[in-house]
Formats: sequence, structure tokens, C-alpha cells
Amino acid sequence: TSAIEEPLDPFSLVSDELSAIANRLRLMVVAEVPKLALATDCFLTMGAQGKGFRAAVLLLMSKALHMPLPQLTADGVFICLKELNARHQCIAETAEMIYVAGLLHDNVLDDAETNCGMGSLNTVMGNKLSVLAGDFLLSRAFVALAKLKNTEVISLLAVVVEHLVSGETMQMTTSEERRSMEYYLQKTFYKTASLIANSCKAIAFLAGQTAEVELLAYNYGRNLGMAYQLTDDVLDFTGSSSSLGKGSLSDINKNIVTAPILFAMEEYPQLREVVDRGFGNRSDVKLALDYLHKSRGLDRTRELAAEHADEAVKAIEALPASDDEDVIKSRRALVNLTRRVITGTK
Ligand code: FPP
Ligand code: MG
Ligand code: MG
Repeated sequence: TSAIEEPLDPFSLVSDELSAIANRLRLMVVAEVPKLALATDCFLTMGAQGKGFRAAVLLLMSKALHMPLPQLTADGVFICLKELNARHQCIAETAEMIYVAGLLHDNVLDDAETNCGMGSLNTVMGNKLSVLAGDFLLSRAFVALAKLKNTEVISLLAVVVEHLVSGETMQMTTSEERRSMEYYLQKTFYKTASLIANSCKAIAFLAGQTAEVELLAYNYGRNLGMAYQLTDDVLDFTGSSSSLGKGSLSDINKNIVTAPILFAMEEYPQLREVVDRGFGNRSDVKLALDYLHKSRGLDRTRELAAEHADEAVKAIEALPASDDEDVIKSRRALVNLTRRVITGTK
């Protein structure tokens, strides 16, 4: 048992498959649209800097739900494990493509200057090409997915795209709903957690798992995604350990209200009018930060992230028991990942 108990780098279990996916994606884009090769450099750093995070979670979920051969799939067909793995890799690849497509559009919406630590495509190649690159990746994701000939899975990921767009749209609102925690949490589910939740569900579905296991996979993804975004929203104020306690403050500067400010507003209702003015001037930003640091806003957001991480762990623990060592290792890696997510270690 000692080998099983030592801490596990969640990515190391799937690093070969991750680089295979990265290479396939890059070759595909380079062959089809050479100009877009730049856009895919993000894929090449998979496993690092949080890139490939989604694919890694999905590949680990695939292993965590591993059952003895042969498998009866949801369509009632027996397929071999090799075929199931190929289908699961397709889901991981598709999820990454949808994510990067979203990021390429997001960079245009946000006027982002960098991405993955390099000049973002919109600044290097312009907004037009960035939008088209996103469209290309999105179409390609669904071309790949369609090859699985499984309408349920296509539908799960089509809903994800709808959610991404809804989340971005909700974030753009200027009316009073942006002061509501409920609205923020719904937006966060759409923008970040739906992709992981629904693709985890697709992994379970393709493996022919019961509705119960499908729901556990979905709940793992949903809670992991929520914990990830809540932590990201804290780090936007505080910075990671490497940035000497200085956050980028990009959310508040873009007039995006996140959980830390919403919690601070509960303690200091005076913050409401500041939020309503829209952070158009620096003194309002400073005022909001003063209230935030006096309040428990950052701590309460961290606590909420930790609660979601715990829920994610519970979902993994509720999976049907297995004595297969690879299954146990993968489940431990998924549990580990929840800890990494809430400490901002990507
Ligand atoms: C990053 O958020 C943005 C997303 C995760 C989703 C973007 C989705 C769209 C623009 C809708 C269109 C979707 C598709 C699939 C074409 P962020 O700006 O908070 O994070 P950042 O700091 O990494 O930029
Ligand atoms: Mg952005
Ligand atoms: Mg954005």
C-alpha cells in the first residue's frame, strides 16, 4: 500500500496521453490552417500552467471508472477497452478544443494582451483571425465528436457551448443582478464548471456506467470547476505565491464583480454604491479594495472554494469500490487535484 499512499502528481499518470493529444491537435491545425499554428502553441504546454487541465481531469476520470473487459456501452454494443480509451481521448481532445476556442474569443472580448505567458493571438494576428481561429477549433471539435456517432454525447457538449456563451453574456451585464451571489454562482457554473461537469458525464456515459455514476462524475466536475474559478477569483486580488502578494486586479478593472467583493458587500453595504458606479475611476477601485481587505471577503471565498473541493472529493469517494490499482491511483489523483485547485497550484 505504501506505493499507493505516496503523494501523486495528478498529471504524471496521464502525461503520455496528454502529449499525444497536444501533438495531434497541433498537427491538425498546422495542416489545415498554417496561419493558426500560433493559436495552438497553448496546447504544447499541456500539463503546465493549467493548460491541458481539462484533458487531464477527463483522462483521469476515464481511468477512475475503468471496469473489466468487455464493456457494454450505452448503445448496448460491446466494445473493447482500446476502443473505449480512444473514445475517451476524443472527449478530452474535444473539451480542450472547446476551451481554447472559448479563450480565443474571450481574448478578443477582454482585449487581452497575453495568454499562456505569450502574446495572445488577437494582439499578434488581430481580432479577426482570433475569432476565426476560435470558430475553426469549435467546428473541428464537433467534427471529431460526431465521429463517435453518439447523440447524447454531442448534446452534452453542445449544451456546454451554450453555457459558455450564456456565462460570458451574464458577465457583461450592468444591471443590479450583478450584485447577487446567486447570479454570480450561476454565471460561474456556465463559464467554467459546465465544461468539466458535462464532459466528465460524457466519459461516464460512454463507459456505459449507471445514471448514479454519471451523476457522481458530473458532480465531481461541477464542484472542481466551481472551486477552480472561486480560487481564480481570489488570486485575481491576491496574486499567486510567486507574484509577491500582488494580484493583477484584472476583474475589478474590467468591472467584473466576483465573489470576494460580493461577500465584502454583505459586511459593508456601503460598497454597493461603489460597485454600481462601475469602477470607472481609480479611486473607486481603491475604495473597493479597502473595504475588501477590511472584510472577510477573500477568506469566505476561499472557504466556499474549499467546500466545493470537499464535495468533489465526496463524489469520488462515493464511486463503486474497486480493487484495481490503476483505478485506485486515478481516483487518488482526482482527489489530489481538488487540493491543488484550491491552493492555486495548476
Ligand atoms: C475565460 O475567462 C473565458 C472562458 C473560460 C469562456 C469564454 C467563452 C466565450 C467567449 C463564449 C464563446 C465560446 C466558444 C466556445 C467559442 P476569463 O476572462 O475570466 O479568464 P482569463 O483570465 O483566463 O482570460
Ligand atoms: Mg479573459
Ligand atoms: Mg473574460
